[in-house]
Amino acid sequence: MIATRLHPDKQTAAQAIAREIADLIEIRSKSGKPTVLGLATGSTPLPLYAELIRLHREEKLSFSSVITFNLDEYEGLGATHPQSYRFFMEENLFRHLDIPAANIHIPDGLSKDLAKNCTDYEAAIRAVGGIDLQILGIGRTGHIGFNEPPSAVDTRTRWVHLDEVTRRDNSAFFGDIALVPHGALTMGVATILEARRVELIAFGEAKADVIRRAIQETPSAHCPATWLQKHPHCTFHLDAAAAKAL
Ligand code: PGA
Repeated sequence: MIATRLHPDKQTAAQAIAREIADLIEIRSKSGKPTVLGLATGSTPLPLYAELIRLHREEKLSFSSVITFNLDEYEGLGATHPQSYRFFMEENLFRHLDIPAANIHIPDGLSKDLAKNCTDYEAAIRAVGGIDLQILGIGRTGHIGFNEPPSAVDTRTRWVHLDEVTRRDNSAFFGDIALVPHGALTMGVATILEARRVELIAFGEAKADVIRRAIQETPSAHCPATWLQKHPHCTFHLDAAAAKAL
């Protein structure tokens, strides 16, 4: 069952989700427990990350007990590559917070053994008791993380071939589609569905059709976001343009 929440603008959505994250961190840290967050990249979560940084700076929200797992990483791109998701996260979130470096996890696109990196990633998530709250964007192909169609409900962290629509959508960041990697590592659909709470964010008319499909189509590998219908606590945070086809 997917709940939808309509927001007047990106900023209001970011504030609502950041508040939810702050409440979770405060409740869990009071009883000495870490908070495990699943994080996303792309343009959509940027206002949320700016708001979390503001809460840290202005309201003294500490991230010292937060553990993070990012959804995905491009194959072949390392921490110093400006288009790697490791670089993106450092730049747009981590370096502004008091999160310990050892608490940050992102699949390693440069690993010599990608399959082992993926099984180790799953083990690391399990070792900290699973993800408390997962942030998601959605691609026009219906991907969540880089789970392109077809992605089955039981998929785990693995290497994937990127859809050409996704490569084209992401080429703006690279300046040239030829520079966009063809492969990536991503958490699987099953990995995402195990998070205790899922908050998906989508803004703008370009996402309206895929939002309609994710909510209204029968769950199937053809539109991986439809699997979220099986999650007990999943909310889609939308603006009016993204909700337009509902
Ligand atoms: P975007 O990407 O936030 O840049 O639209 C979302 C996604 O592809 O998951």
